[in-house]
Amino acid sequence: MRWIGWLLTLGMLLQCAPVMAGAQADYASDFSAGTDGWYARSTGSASVSVTAEGALAIAGRSADWHSMGRDFALARGESYRLSVQVRQSEAPEARMILSVAHSKYGLESYENIAFATAKRDQWTTLSGTYLAGDFDRFVLYVETLGAGTLAYEIRDFTLEGRTLSFGGDDLPLLKEAYANLFPFGTAVTYAEAVNPVRMAFYAEQFNLFTPGNELKPDSVLDVAASRTLAAQDDTLVAVRFDAARPLLDFASAQGIPVHGHTLVWHQQTPEAFFHEGYDPARPLVTRETMLARLENYIRAVMTWTEEHYPGLIVSWDVVNEAVADGQAALRPSNWLTVVGGDYVERAFEYARRWAPEGVKLYYNDYNTAYEPKQTGIVNLLTALQSQGTVDGYGFQMHHDIRQPGYAAIEKAFRRVSALGLRLRISELDVTVPDSTDASFDAQAVLYGQVMALAASFADQVDGVQVWGVTDDLSWRAAQYPLLFYADGRPKPAFYAVLEAAGRE
Ligand code: XIL
Repeated sequence: MRWIGWLLTLGMLLQCAPVMAGAQADYASDFSAGTDGWYARSTGSASVSVTAEGALAIAGRSADWHSMGRDFALARGESYRLSVQVRQSEAPEARMILSVAHSKYGLESYENIAFATAKRDQWTTLSGTYLAGDFDRFVLYVETLGAGTLAYEIRDFTLEGRTLSFGGDDLPLLKEAYANLFPFGTAVTYAEAVNPVRMAFYAEQFNLFTPGNELKPDSVLDVAASRTLAAQDDTLVAVRFDAARPLLDFASAQGIPVHGHTLVWHQQTPEAFFHEGYDPARPLVTRETMLARLENYIRAVMTWTEEHYPGLIVSWDVVNEAVADGQAALRPSNWLTVVGGDYVERAFEYARRWAPEGVKLYYNDYNTAYEPKQTGIVNLLTALQSQGTVDGYGFQMHHDIRQPGYAAIEKAFRRVSALGLRLRISELDVTVPDSTDASFDAQAVLYGQVMALAASFADQVDGVQVWGVTDDLSWRAAQYPLLFYADGRPKPAFYAVLEAAGRE
């Protein structure tokens, strides 16, 4: 039975993910001769055993993390596909998590890889991808969320490694192809930044980095410390940069400039930021308090980064995505509610006040190709321009091969460029509906068109940033939007981008 299940799983994986050339089944659980290296992770009396049906059961738990776990010798810089089935019979449903406990110098830390709700008596699949970071021990385990005493079973645990085949001596370099035009950059997340195999390749290909998440307010605003400060003065703001440091360290060691993303956004911003005492249960603060917090936040971020990494951050997205979809107006947000319609202008005013000399200040948004949002963006930029606080506009360009189509993209680009601002393509990716050659060729065409357009405006463009490197780590991984396959090989889009550099 189990073998049939395994073959089916493997067949399905191969069918759904043809870009997995070179992937191999590194491990498939087999409990026919015992617990197969799995043990109970527990400070209590949890224990594991093999069931009559050949699954692995855990019982006697007294905390969510009490779990069945197994050590795996994972390689830093490799990405792994994981899948396991779980079943429980004690509750109508239970939240289950596939996690990894990793340690370095004996210090253990944790990441959740996949979540699922297991209905009573139903085998439920947990699956996800894990990129092995800079650790020397990895324990994969299946735990619960809010069900610390639940007994459950697992079966069909599989782990597939993917050896990264980045680069090679004769692979052309994006940054060289664009050397005479503008820097060619990429977003980099924490997990990638701590991965030397990836970062060596990224430093070869790219000459501009931006943190994918780590300079957003939910990474930077230290809510607990701000709460403490608020006891004296509710306008004070505490910040921290732990998440951003690996990338900032790497970039500064390599001399690669960084674009900061992002100071003000309606998403990935703690709700507490907007409330009295930084306590979401208390009322929203007044406009005056919020403006003071906004300025203190911007000042703290600008001052800390410049002090610790002088000259490294060359530009900032001051405000991200303020214009609503389908309207030429600001979107609803806590910022709009608490501060009012001038919050974008105030943010730029403060950023201009605190930015080190020469640092360029950007407004960044998506769906620029769509009306009436495009007009809303142009109006906002025009107002900021008249106040002398904005330097540039960042076109996110999260596109798809089917929409909005190159003609609309070009029209939007030309319209915004006519304002005379600096321009960047800040988050380029192009999704496809499936992983067929035809889709990847269509993707290459659109990438090529967009890059030729940017190249034709090279005098006005400060940089292009793709929103990630390999498809598997993209925020839209299921739609293969980037220039490299999961295993590091270049896609047709990579060559189209290279070619576009010479087309102008
Ligand atoms: C995305 C990140 O890539 C994800 O990891 C995160 O979960 C959500 O945010 N527009 C932006 C980016 O400005 O910050 C977003 O990044 C993608 C859309």
